[in-house]
Amino acid sequence: MCLLEVERLGISYPGQDGQFQALAEVNLQMRAGEFVAIIGPSGCGKTTLLGALAGLLPPGARQSGIIHWDGRLRRRGALGYLTQRDTLLPWRTVLANVELPLELHGLPRQVRRRQALEMLERFGLAGFERSYPHELSGGMRQRVSLVRTLIYDPELIALDEPLGSLDAQTRLVLQEELRRLWRETHQTFLLVTHDLEEAVLLAERVIVLSARPGRVVAEHKIELDRKRSLPELRWSAEFSRITRRLWQELNPQTKSLERSVG
Ligand SMILES: Nc1ncnc2c1ncn2[C@@H]1O[C@H](COP(=O)(O)OP(=O)(O)OP(=O)(O)O)[C@@H](O)[C@H]1O
Ligand SMILES: [Mg+2]
Repeated sequence: MCLLEVERLGISYPGQDGQFQALAEVNLQMRAGEFVAIIGPSGCGKTTLLGALAGLLPPGARQSGIIHWDGRLRRRGALGYLTQRDTLLPWRTVLANVELPLELHGLPRQVRRRQALEMLERFGLAGFERSYPHELSGGMRQRVSLVRTLIYDPELIALDEPLGSLDAQTRLVLQEELRRLWRETHQTFLLVTHDLEEAVLLAERVIVLSARPGRVVAEHKIELDRKRSLPELRWSAEFSRITRRLWQELNPQTKSLERSVG
């Protein structure tokens, strides 16, 4: 059964020459517990899509089409959204940042403190509760943002390039954490990424968007043995085969390049 169903979603923004189309006719269905990745070139409307799902489009944006929400997504905090820009508040400690969503919904101080401390501990951030964001590494800041996104135990977790700015090693650690989280919680994940390999490694289904205005140009089910570790998967023959095919779809030029080299 679908948790979320998007039908012919179109979004336009006001521009200098009138409205311009950022997304066109996007269809998307997500089952509960699924891990879906969206890839597409810069500016194709990935952040716009997540903004529409989170109800956070800026004034002036126009939306057409339909978004069906399952009842489970109607409770407060059911959608966790990790934005592309780092939105930790610099004047708040790690603990106070993580508590913020609970505070905004008026949970008593003791309850929110306990929940926040538990989550920080679970994500390897114990000992940094009193630190300020500028005192943390990029990887730790992303981890704090992730904890803040997860604190409400969301049904659907939308992540906008969460690991984009991190070095390869930190990225691998956090990819492994995302995967573990998904496996342990059965939450539903929608991951936007530039990184094709990341999409294939983590997602069960990869959706490819075209350049602006973003449309769904392809959808792939990824069949990989998910019991294997990420490094093992990354070096497997199936993985190379799948990423190669997707890569060609994203950049048709690479096909002719390969031909001329081969
Ligand atoms: N608030 C806004 N007002 C006007 N135009 C916008 C606004 N936000 C985004 N756009 C435009 O809409 C298009 C899609 O932007 P969006 O940020 O969704 O792309 P994206 O796929 O997330 O790109 P990236 O991979 O670089 O993050 C771009 O052309 C962008 O300039
Ligand atoms: Mg974006």
